[in-house]
Formats: sequence, structure tokens, C-alpha cells
Amino acid sequence: MTHAQEPLRILAFSASLRRESLNTRLMQIAVAIMEKQGCVVDHASMAEFDCPSYNQDLDASMPAPATLFRDRLEQCDAFIISSPEYNGSMPGLLKNAVDWVSRFRPQPFNEKHGLLMSASPSMRGGNMGLWSLRIPFEHLGARIYPDMFSLATAHKGITPEGKIADEKLGERFENTILAFLSLVEAAKHEIGSTA
Ligand SMILES: Cc1cc2nc3c(=O)[nH]c(=O)nc-3n(C[C@H](O)[C@H](O)[C@H](O)COP(=O)(O)O)c2cc1C
Repeated sequence: MTHAQEPLRILAFSASLRRESLNTRLMQIAVAIMEKQGCVVDHASMAEFDCPSYNQDLDASMPAPATLFRDRLEQCDAFIISSPEYNGSMPGLLKNAVDWVSRFRPQPFNEKHGLLMSASPSMRGGNMGLWSLRIPFEHLGARIYPDMFSLATAHKGITPEGKIADEKLGERFENTILAFLSLVEAAKHEIGSTA
């Protein structure tokens, strides 16, 4: 069976709840690029996956946002997250949601391809937060793409029309996403050819 005609299904969300979130704006650019490539993008919001604080006593009664996150992961070929960096690390609400979802069996992050990106007003663009975010995902068996994109001085780096202001950086952003999609596509065909 070939999957050549099937579009890639990508779950995409920004891990910020903030109305004017820079990460949400960066994700909107990424979604437009993926849709131009013919992907079916499930453009979610962190608010949908935001869970109460994890409590192992409650494993038997998963909160609805965790179940929704699991379901949406299961329906996609890959996920892409744009995450703020808080105090040199990932936002607690994202780690909390990942902890809940990690309790499902089968564990839905296992073997799922993921691309991480960030936006921050700082000079490093929140890149340190992405290194910390790799740890739980890789622990769970997710195939996190080696390149990560971090938009520095992001408060000035996105035009009002929703483009990355620096043309060369915009090209690099697009190329990172396209390379990730190629890998996901190749993996999907590989799995299809052995099934
Ligand atoms: C609690 C807190 C901690 C933060 N820590 C960092 C940090 O370590 N590194 C960084 O680049 N920005 C840090 N920031 C600034 C965020 O990058 C900035 O608020 C950013 O706009 C948040 O992402 P958002 O616009 O998508 O909500 C922090 C912000 C908050 C509220």
C-alpha cells in the first residue's frame, strides 16, 4: 500500500496562553508554510491541552484536555510546537500536559516525529527552553528533529502582515520546516512499504 497521495497530518500549536503571544504568531507563519505544501494541519491551542496539576492518584480518571491531546497526537503523523522559554526552561503547563499524556498506553509520543521552535524578545530566542523540552520528548521516544528554530528579538522580528522580517531568516525558517516535512514523509512511506 502506498501513502504517496495522502497528505501529511501535522498537529501544530503554540505553548503560550497569552493573547498577543509571539510563539502563536510564529506558529501561524509555520502553519501557512505547511498548508502551502498540502499538509492537513490541526492548528490547536495550548488552552485546549491545559491540564490541572499532575496527580498520580488521578491516573484512572484522566482530565479531558489530556485525553484530547492524546487523541489529536494519535491522529497526526507529526507534531510541531512553538514554545516560550520561562526561566531558561520549558513552560510548566506544557511539561504538565506532557506528563499527563505520557500515562496513556500505548504512550502516544513514542516514535512520533516532532519539530520544536521558539520565539522570544531575548537575543537567544528562547533556544535554551527547547533544549530542556527535548529531554522529556526524547525520553518518551519522540523523534525530535535535530534542527530547532528560535526567533530572537521576536517582538521586532515579525511584520504586522505576519512574515519573518529578515528575509534570509524567513528562508531559513521555511527550509527548516520543509526539511522536517521531507523526513516525516519519508518515514511515512517507509512504514507504508513494510506494512
Ligand atoms: C515567567 C517568565 C520567565 C521568562 N523567562 C525567559 C527566559 O528564560 N528566556 C527568555 O528568552 N525569555 C523569558 N521570558 C520572556 C518571554 O520570552 C516573553 O514573555 C515571550 O514573549 C513569551 O512568549 P509568548 O509571547 O509566546 O507568550 C520570560 C517570561 C516570563 C513571564
